[in-house]
Amino acid sequence: MASRTLPPTIEWRDGDLLLLDQTRLPHEIVVENIADVQAVWRAIRELRVRGAPAIGVAAAYGLCIAMRASTALPIAQFRAELVRHAEYLETARPTAVNLSWGVRRMLRHSRDIDASDAATLYAALVDEATRIHEEDRALCEGIGEYGMPLITEGCGVLTHCNAGALATTGLGTATAPIYAAHRAGIAFRVYADETRPLLQGARLTAFELQQAGVDVTLIIDSAAASIMSQGLVDVVIVGTDRVAANGDFANKIGTLGLAIAAHHYGIPFYVACPSSTLDLQTPGGARIEIEERNAEEVTHLAGRRIAPEAMKARNPAFDVTPHALVSGFITERGIVRAPFERSLRSLFAAEGNAA
Ligand code: MRU
Repeated sequence: MASRTLPPTIEWRDGDLLLLDQTRLPHEIVVENIADVQAVWRAIRELRVRGAPAIGVAAAYGLCIAMRASTALPIAQFRAELVRHAEYLETARPTAVNLSWGVRRMLRHSRDIDASDAATLYAALVDEATRIHEEDRALCEGIGEYGMPLITEGCGVLTHCNAGALATTGLGTATAPIYAAHRAGIAFRVYADETRPLLQGARLTAFELQQAGVDVTLIIDSAAASIMSQGLVDVVIVGTDRVAANGDFANKIGTLGLAIAAHHYGIPFYVACPSSTLDLQTPGGARIEIEERNAEEVTHLAGRRIAPEAMKARNPAFDVTPHALVSGFITERGIVRAPFERSLRSLFAAEGNAA
């Protein structure tokens, strides 16, 4: 993990699930020992654990938490309970496909296990969640390796939200090429959008890159186009919550505007996408469900009202960027370029979210 002084984003320790509370960062470091499946659901919903890959790993362990006190149940009842908890966990947030990917992979694995007792099946679930966790780290490494050549000596990189180490259990996705280039001794600078309204860029990306010694400058979201117009950005790298079969993708609100501005200024625009975030069953961006969050996140700042009383507000947490604005997807198997429908399918047809 790049943020060396921090505890891991997610840890499974002797049957307990420990989550680093990302709503308290960077000023407080609080690790929560998750008591039950409702607490997992709330931690995901309330963004204490957030970022698509981290949500997938947390949900996989979340199912283990859901089932850990049920190992004395008859096996059929254990299996029925598992399905019930899986359906519940999937409702925590709608946009990041990693949530349903993680939960469904756990269910598939449970069906493949021919266990005669619940304790055996529970142990198999813990093994599978641990594999999902380990694979997540490896996906980040792969994205770092393939994305690193996009970052050259003296260049400027712009990123949005936090697709960093905190959003995964490894080097991050959008930040993996950044960490790889930094390790390789390349000198470059990063602009981190603050990311209204919940400030994942200011609180998390700026923090973890600074901790790692990367040259990072925080900007307000609405400064991004201006910074691009000054020739300070050579490449934009963002993360994603879901990539549809045609290459349209959802990411934190504000990403679409960045892609349009990058296109205007002729700046390459890359999306870091582990295979766990690919959704080949969704044909295009119009079918991606966008989470609409509480209006108070817009009308209030740090708990204090800034908008007039009774002000109407919209708070879509994500937007969809059309594939035409994407230069390429940085995946763990290489950079995927247009035509995306064909190239994504040919590389990832066998993965869990494929049709
Ligand atoms: O609402 P969040 O903080 O979960 O949104 C996170 C993002 O939009 C990230 O860019 C995305 O999940 C990719 S994380 C590697």
